[in-house]
Amino acid sequence: MLTNAPRGTKDIYGSYMNTWKKLEDTVNEICTNFGFNEIRTPIFEHTELFQRGVGETTDIVQKEMYSFTDKGDRNITLKPEGTAGVVRAYLERKMYADAQPTKLFYITPAFRYERPQAGRYRQFHQFGVELFGSDKPSADAEVIALAANMLKNLGITNVELHINSLGGPECRKKYNNTLKEFLSKNIDSLCPTCMERYEKNPLRILDCKNEKCQAVLKDAPLAKDELDTECKEHFEELLRLLDAMEIQYVVDPWIVRGLDYYTRTVFEFISKDIGAQGTVCGGGRYDKLIEECGGSPTPAVGFGAGIERLIMTMEAINGSNEDKPTRDIYLGYVGENAKKTTFALVNELRNNNISVETDLMSRSVKAQMKYANKIGARYSAIIGDNELEENSVRIKNMETREQIDLNIEEIAKYMKENK
Ligand code: HAM
Repeated sequence: MLTNAPRGTKDIYGSYMNTWKKLEDTVNEICTNFGFNEIRTPIFEHTELFQRGVGETTDIVQKEMYSFTDKGDRNITLKPEGTAGVVRAYLERKMYADAQPTKLFYITPAFRYERPQAGRYRQFHQFGVELFGSDKPSADAEVIALAANMLKNLGITNVELHINSLGGPECRKKYNNTLKEFLSKNIDSLCPTCMERYEKNPLRILDCKNEKCQAVLKDAPLAKDELDTECKEHFEELLRLLDAMEIQYVVDPWIVRGLDYYTRTVFEFISKDIGAQGTVCGGGRYDKLIEECGGSPTPAVGFGAGIERLIMTMEAINGSNEDKPTRDIYLGYVGENAKKTTFALVNELRNNNISVETDLMSRSVKAQMKYANKIGARYSAIIGDNELEENSVRIKNMETREQIDLNIEEIAKYMKENK
């Protein structure tokens, strides 16, 4: 127990961490280029926020939340996704008073009590963006372009963008009724979960992978056929913008998404490289959520991408990222006098932004040089009594094997010039 991490969690280190950092750097750069600012919200929020924000009828709220009562008797939940917390912050911090739209991004842990499998964890991480204040298809296009750009920059090319429109609240109501009427004829053939969904959230039945449900759904009516003129025009304009940016997509009427808050556009980027849990990124428009959370009516659109799934895809394509961060110099020593001088010099180099390691294991000179090699130091030097006496240290370039003798006072300057 003590040496087993909880089921569905992962330690992030080594080559995995190298890929993770590369991903974070790419995300930061792209979001800055698109004019999105970073936000970090708490890992836990009041449970009610997710009940309202994610939706009472979703699997997340019904079965998957890590909820507890704190010592002050408050109902608290570890965030199962990134959007609700950002919506809360947008309202609480009155960001709507700034120039609109508000464009935010985040990288956050998220927690869902799901059955763990490849690509599905109980603690996972999401990179997400949220754009508040525009109901125009250009906002949807901007968010989708950001996701496409990110995937391309991460080298993830074997993905398909699936896109659909669920229509606004009126279209959805109409479609729910049409769908229920259709399903009512075959209700006994549905799986038990879908029988429950029939009353509360029939749309989610479209997402069911059960063969019996799939057979019933073959001839089901589709949301796209119930769109009113405005919603249809919104969707068509979005597709025109994607065409203009040469972003490829498949219009997929079966994409409904697992969360309740979506209106109009929904989309998923699906990877073909990582098996069943292939959705690396999912999102859409949610024009009613901010009102639902107590704000004035404010349109919004965004997406969330699973970082572990992105890394799985990157590793499936490129293998794991074994590149080690290198050190500028390994500075070893022999003897007590040299030790003090070396520690002082190491400190000086670090203050000059040079990465340096020294001996913390009382190793022999030979073992110190072996270690210098292992950590990928670009230069190395060993200071002993002779070097102190003559004030001359031999600095070795580990790659070219060239050597240069320097006074101790000259080493920092030399390293800065050769960084
Ligand atoms: P979601 O589809 O529930 O949407 O999650 C977004 C992404 O998080 C998924 O596409 C997947 O890559 C990843 N993900 C979800 N659950 C797990 C899990 N258990 N293990 C590993 N990865 C997972 C949302 O969360 C919305 N907040 C997205 C959004 C933002 N819509 C509008 N704005």
